[in-house]
Amino acid sequence: KYEKLWLLFGIGALLVFTITIGVSAFYMGNQPPSCLVTVDPSKVETTEPFDQPGLRQVGEKEYEVIVVASSFNFNVGPEKVIRIPVGSTVNFIGTTKDVVHGFEVAGTNANMMLEPGYINTVETTFKKPGKYTIVCNEYCGLGHHLMFATLEVV
Ligand code: CUA
Repeated sequence: KYEKLWLLFGIGALLVFTITIGVSAFYMGNQPPSCLVTVDPSKVETTEPFDQPGLRQVGEKEYEVIVVASSFNFNVGPEKVIRIPVGSTVNFIGTTKDVVHGFEVAGTNANMMLEPGYINTVETTFKKPGKYTIVCNEYCGLGHHLMFATLEVV
């Protein structure tokens, strides 16, 4: 008699376990932790703020850079070079129109993944003047190595 009870208990525990895993995978797996906002990849160009990529000043020495990644390009405004004064804090806000791309400002802590459907952000302060190269650090196809832009801190 007891064996049957234990078997039932075992199956029950397994069921609860499976459901818990399934539910948490659904909520967490589908949503990378730092990507809180979603955007329709096919409508990126007409969705704010991605309809106007590039640099915008939001405060004293505070900037935002709207980044639209696509194979194989970073759209960071009309030019491939962003210029900011030394000591500026920049919040990079990015998404991708197609596949997963990486976004890294080489030599800084600014590093994020751009995933289709999601908006990701990373903030960093540029204390040293110089030329920083923005690269894609996530293999995205044949033109992966062509994906770059430049940030000039003056
Ligand atoms: Cu985009 Cu690698």
